[in-house]
Amino acid sequence: MKPFRSAVIGCGVISKNHISALQNSEAAQLAAVCDIDPERAAAAGERAGVPFYTDYRRMIEKEQLDAVHVCLPHCLHAEAAVWAMEHGLWALSEKPMDASLTAARRMAEVSERTGMRLGVIFQNRYNPGSVMARELILSGRAGKVISLNGVVCWHRDDPYYRQAWRAAYATAGGGVLINQAIHTLDLIRWLSCSEVVSVRATASHHGPTHAEVEDTAEGFLTFASGATGLFWFTINDSLDREVEVTVRCENCEIRLVGSAATAVFSDGTVLESGRDTRPSVSAKACYGNSHSIQIEEFYTDPDGARVREGVAQALKTQELLAEIFRSAARFNPAVPEMR
Ligand SMILES: NC(=O)c1ccc[n+]([C@@H]2O[C@H](COP(=O)([O-])OP(=O)(O)OC[C@H]3O[C@@H](n4cnc5c(N)ncnc54)[C@H](O)[C@@H]3O)[C@@H](O)[C@H]2O)c1
Repeated sequence: MKPFRSAVIGCGVISKNHISALQNSEAAQLAAVCDIDPERAAAAGERAGVPFYTDYRRMIEKEQLDAVHVCLPHCLHAEAAVWAMEHGLWALSEKPMDASLTAARRMAEVSERTGMRLGVIFQNRYNPGSVMARELILSGRAGKVISLNGVVCWHRDDPYYRQAWRAAYATAGGGVLINQAIHTLDLIRWLSCSEVVSVRATASHHGPTHAEVEDTAEGFLTFASGATGLFWFTINDSLDREVEVTVRCENCEIRLVGSAATAVFSDGTVLESGRDTRPSVSAKACYGNSHSIQIEEFYTDPDGARVREGVAQALKTQELLAEIFRSAARFNPAVPEMR
């Protein structure tokens, strides 16, 4: 018998990754699903052979659960995770922590107060390329980090924004910055192994969609270590290109493309991480395949220290987003500050 009974709240696009990870988990089993849309809830429940609900509070009351996976619109992450933790359950939320910084901080506080484990999905930290890059930097082998840059060129169009929560600042908290390129921003910040000390950024809507949120953003970061960061993100390309992150260090340059990384050292040594070659379970290839690794860690981390560190990192990325929006609002009054 697997020790954890877990439920997925929100049966939209990303729920597929969570359901599949739970179905293949050694540690946890899928016990129920929930979606406010009765047809989606029923379809997901019948496919997986588990009970389905349209109200997560009722599901938590009925199902003797140990944990929930929050796969909801951004503005509902904290509400659902806090409800679960206050009722004695662990909560694993999709990125970002929430549309609001205040709500994100509350999630972390409630986890600390209740002792219930909180996790936040940033699956790309678990890609082979990210793991290799971070190890090279933390071990000192790469030398001091000098600069980092990240480029995301993806395609999102009006049909994507038919799930209306994605189109508005009030429900998504932003566009390309918080929804798509948050992973890349997180990797730049995480691989810097330092703290962001200043942010200059712009965010605009250039493309043909009718969404309110920004579709393009660029910026310049400085870190306490003296390293600099650059980013350029758009969802106005005609397809999803592989994300690129380049980290220039004293002894090598590390280039991440998709899930893989190559490090080229000044003495000619080349290190390759290799790619994740497991069959994809994602609705979109650009989500990668590392959800299952992070989900297994969530349940098996013996003292929760790795999961807590992951949340601390997620909160730093949320704080960076808030600073980026604050900076962008100075150039573009259409961009609201993140509360
Ligand atoms: N990690 C990744 O790479 C990745 C990729 C895609 C999406 N996501 C994240 O996953 C989350 C969901 O995104 P998505 O693309 O699956 O969205 P989606 O719109 O496809 O799914 C959200 C689902 O939540 C349901 N819902 C809304 N309010 C609800 C409520 N009160 N109770 C129960 N269900 C409710 C909706 O009916 C919908 O089915 C977001 O946070 C998004 O950023 C992460």
